[in-house]
Amino acid sequence: MNPITLEGPRLTFRELREDDVDALFEIYGSEVATEHLSFDPRPLDSVASVIASGIADTQVDPRTVYALAVTLKEDPGLIGYARLALEAHRAGQIGFALNPSVWGQGYGTETVRLLLQLGFDQLGLHRIWGARSPKNAASARAMSGNGMVEEARIRDHVFTHGAWRDSITHVILEDEWRQPER
Ligand SMILES: CC(C)(COP(=O)(O)OP(=O)(O)OC[C@H]1O[C@@H](n2cnc3c(N)ncnc32)[C@H](O)[C@@H]1OP(=O)(O)O)[C@@H](O)C(=O)NCCC(=O)NCCS
Repeated sequence: MNPITLEGPRLTFRELREDDVDALFEIYGSEVATEHLSFDPRPLDSVASVIASGIADTQVDPRTVYALAVTLKEDPGLIGYARLALEAHRAGQIGFALNPSVWGQGYGTETVRLLLQLGFDQLGLHRIWGARSPKNAASARAMSGNGMVEEARIRDHVFTHGAWRDSITHVILEDEWRQPER
């Protein structure tokens, strides 16, 4: 199923393009946007590598990594980055980040929902999880709001911003995703 396009009420997922680098740099190069992430702000060439790697992943057969651009429906410019990495046993891990200029309007929640749609409805996964900083309240809400319950604390999960940091994991299983109220 290449290339991926997915549509939510207000957002679209599409495949990454080389010319997305500046827009992704606004996120991954930003102190604000990376405050709770597992890495320090990235220089431009590192962001270009993230894009190149995401594009290369589309050629892997079978594909195991879906690194996608998040856009507004009416504008193809990248406002966010969404990633689903497949694991053994029909599991997958999500990651997501949006440009700070669009935070607080429900797009984070919609981004997580689209990632879950991709994983469960299109790829047939059984279990999808994400890991966040204990201090990342917006990420916690975006995942919990889509039925991803808190599951565990991974101690000293990542070394970031000069220190070891725990992660809190959230998870949702396929039968939970398919409950009628979802
Ligand atoms: C996490 C992120 C994607 C959320 O995006 P967003 O568009 O602001 O999210 P939403 O507008 O859908 O808000 C989700 C919820 O978080 C709440 N929220 C938003 N910012 C918040 C903050 N700073 N503190 C506490 N709650 C916050 C919202 O009120 C909303 O709550 P609700 O579901 O009860 O209404 C965005 O903050 C981001 O890109 N952060 C940097 C990268 C990152 O941390 N990614 C997650 C890695 S695990």
